[in-house]
Amino acid sequence: MSTIKNIHAYEIIDSKGNPTIEARLTLDNDSYVITSVPGAIFQSTKEAVDLRDEDPNRFTGMGVSHAVSYVNDLIAPKIKGASVHKQLEIDMWLSQADGTRNKSRLGVNTILTVSQLLVKAAALSEQAPLFKYINKLYQSIYKEEIPLEKIPTPIFNTINGGAHANSTIDFQEFQIIPSSSFTFGTAYQKAVEIFFELKKVLEYRNATTAVGEEGGFSPNLTTNLDALEILTETITQKKMRCGLDIFLGIDMAASHYYKNGQYLIKDKNHPLNKNEYIDFLSSVIQNYSILALEDPFAEDDWDSWKKFSGHISSNIYVIGDENIRMSKDRLGYVIRENACTSFLIKPNQIGTITEVLELVNIARRSNLTYIVAARSSETNDSFIADLAVGIQSEFVKFGAPTRGERVSKYNRLWQIERDELGK
Ligand code: PGA
Ligand code: ZN
Repeated sequence: MSTIKNIHAYEIIDSKGNPTIEARLTLDNDSYVITSVPGAIFQSTKEAVDLRDEDPNRFTGMGVSHAVSYVNDLIAPKIKGASVHKQLEIDMWLSQADGTRNKSRLGVNTILTVSQLLVKAAALSEQAPLFKYINKLYQSIYKEEIPLEKIPTPIFNTINGGAHANSTIDFQEFQIIPSSSFTFGTAYQKAVEIFFELKKVLEYRNATTAVGEEGGFSPNLTTNLDALEILTETITQKKMRCGLDIFLGIDMAASHYYKNGQYLIKDKNHPLNKNEYIDFLSSVIQNYSILALEDPFAEDDWDSWKKFSGHISSNIYVIGDENIRMSKDRLGYVIRENACTSFLIKPNQIGTITEVLELVNIARRSNLTYIVAARSSETNDSFIADLAVGIQSEFVKFGAPTRGERVSKYNRLWQIERDELGK
């Protein structure tokens, strides 16, 4: 049985230029694993807390040296010598040692680093691919087998707006979703080809081709519908069929344009009340090949969430992100009230991998689909790609098909498809 010889954490810089934690776990036979965790920058009070130094003289307060020292000086000495197969016990001990509802004492960055290290180390000690080990871990806890059948369908970010870009449009992400009938390799290739064509279409229209937080273009368009028009035109130009080969998705992140009970978007010259806004969404679904709408409503506008999810076609995924933020309580509410049909899995909004698997189990028992998603501040670690395959996530959402921190995860999925799945 492999035991922990040493854990050593240190600061690295994430894709937005802020510090985050990377750490190495060395096993008793001197083999080792390395992991790093994403950061949370626009952090809501509703999600687990990243511990930041708040020292204005270092990295404008965003340093994580305290979190690093918690890993090295507080946690590592306590679990040295422990078996790497004690995931459940160590994860539970981490949560208890923190003792808060939102991981604010030790920090979710501290806790997730240790939890991910353990998963990777246990996979290494069994000489199992990470996704297979995660799949087995889930089965051993919940006594439910999840057959490893597919690579999750990718949702690619292509145009950024809202809080993720310096652009004029309100919605945060305009996405392309290749048909689930394609292999991952084919889907990836089509996404890259569309992405390059999109650049040409934007240039032709004299729109800017600067990029946003997740690598998508952030053009100076007049309305949100312009972005959907341009994507449809681009897909057609590449001789692909909208609604058959390629679908569209939008992460609307609607809390950002919801004020005083109304939705204010560039497409309309007056704020929309809730009914008018739902009518607008219905017309978007009718006119474009939409497969998924994430956060179409503000996080607390539950009336609209329930009304919309209950009435629209079951072919559309209504995805909750900001209204759930990996909270078990809010997930329970969403399930009871039928407020979404799918939700995002972001491990650094909750803490340990054991807690992530618990939410997966709750979702599976309720037939709610789940989507493993990257954060806007990422590292090059591809852990969540293996997580997504291991729990057979319906989709994955890792950002644009460009930029290292995005393609490290897509490339890992491609590698699993090529070399490992089914073997
Ligand atoms: P975040 O964005 O990492 O800034 O939360 C990603 C998303 O909204 O899905
Ligand atoms: Zn989102």
